[in-house]
Amino acid sequence: MLRVLVCLSIMLSVAVAEELITCSGIVPMRYRNDKISITDFGGVGDGSTLNTEAFREAIFRIQHLSRRGGTLLYVPPGVFLTGPFNLTSHMTLYLASGAVIKATQNTQSWPLIAPLPSYGRGRERPGGRYMSFLHGDGLHDVIITGENGTIDGQGGFWWNMWRQGTLQFTRPNIIEFVNSESILISNVVVKNSPFWNIHPVYCSNVVIRYVTILAPPDSPNTDGIDPDSSSSVCIEDSFISTGDDLVAVKSGWDEYGIAYGRPSSDITIRRVTGTSPFAGIAVGSETSGGVENVLAENINLYNMGIGIHVKTNTGRGGFIRNITFSNVYIEKARKGIKLAGDVGDHPDDKFNPNALPVVKDITFNSIWGVKVLQPGLIQGLKNSPFTGICLSNINLHGVPGPSSTPWKCSDVSGASVQVSPSPCAELISTHQDGSCSDHF
Ligand SMILES: *[C@@H]1O[C@H](CO)[C@@H](O)[C@H](O)[C@H]1NC(C)=O
Ligand SMILES: *[C@@H]1O[C@H](CO)[C@@H](O)[C@H](O)[C@H]1NC(C)=O
Ligand SMILES: *[C@@H]1O[C@H](CO)[C@@H](O)[C@H](O)[C@H]1NC(C)=O
Repeated sequence: MLRVLVCLSIMLSVAVAEELITCSGIVPMRYRNDKISITDFGGVGDGSTLNTEAFREAIFRIQHLSRRGGTLLYVPPGVFLTGPFNLTSHMTLYLASGAVIKATQNTQSWPLIAPLPSYGRGRERPGGRYMSFLHGDGLHDVIITGENGTIDGQGGFWWNMWRQGTLQFTRPNIIEFVNSESILISNVVVKNSPFWNIHPVYCSNVVIRYVTILAPPDSPNTDGIDPDSSSSVCIEDSFISTGDDLVAVKSGWDEYGIAYGRPSSDITIRRVTGTSPFAGIAVGSETSGGVENVLAENINLYNMGIGIHVKTNTGRGGFIRNITFSNVYIEKARKGIKLAGDVGDHPDDKFNPNALPVVKDITFNSIWGVKVLQPGLIQGLKNSPFTGICLSNINLHGVPGPSSTPWKCSDVSGASVQVSPSPCAELISTHQDGSCSDHF
């Protein structure tokens, strides 16, 4: 009897251990009783008919003939060319297998919208910015999902304007939600965004899971997912391959971000795989509203510029604190870990050079890398050193031979255990500093 009980309890504990932690509880998938198809509104998926009016009318119908439980807008297989359009609350945009929503390349059909108050201007150019391809402002209960259909930003046209210096205003994101809550994006492929891919800003309760985000490695500023001045954001089980940071947590730019004062907090990033010439998981560089309580775990990175990059600058102000990176595997990268206080440009010359960011309590636990040319580079600020930088169980190995660069640090304090190759002197301590001891 006892043996049976012991055996049963072992089986139970194995079953519990195997249950994956997911973000599905934050914004659950909702069933919509009311369903409409884009073809009911004259939508034609032949790749050349412009469907902007069809999408706008379908969304207008959802907004004004609101049905209990919301409405699902079905996009069947086919290529639906369209200009940008606004989403509305209580809707699901459902892309069937083989459905493509493709952005037009006509700048005339891209309305300009106001700059974000926490940026004070467009991120690239002064003044307004092009609205995102799929846009949501002041919404709640919005789902973008389906059977891995594609949202195609046709970014090449915008990347060339950027390369040629002919951009008049800041390029559009492919998906942006502003001031919105209860947003779920899952089971879609997002490709060739003109600029950042998925940008939740001033949002709460956002779940992004089972998404594939693709843009060529040389596409400029095609960040994958940028939670910005947002809270309770959960990103998981996704593949991202772009030309800039795969995930970058932000919170506004210099004096505008400081004045707006809205942090990013409670951000979870897990089971994300990807590749990029820039960073895998980044915090910054625009962090003027503060960033706290971030957990990134079970991340797999290949052919990277930098595995993990925490970046800020003089004039940013704000804080970056209580950030944990755990179980990260990096294969081939210029740098494994970089923390730096001198990254990124300023919106204008009105930034306050005395607004120094505070960077503290950053934990790295179980970070493994092969073919990593430099394991770590940490450059704090002389007048605002980075503190509580905790390293444990870190193995970041280079290629054999003399080409590997050692750890390099300045203006930083913290502690380390089991770090190979051995870290810089600043982080080698026999006694652990207070904030690190909780983590070892
Ligand atoms: C879409 O939303 C933006 C921002 O809220 C607004 O400026 C614009 O007028 C809307 N466009 C349409 C076509 O409804
Ligand atoms: C969609 O892609 C995800 C991976 O991102 C995969 O887990 C899922 O099975 C796919 N679903 C369908 C219907 O193909
Ligand atoms: C630190 O962040 C984690 C999430 O990664 C959170 O669970 C924890 O409560 C935070 N700690 C403090 C002291 O806020």
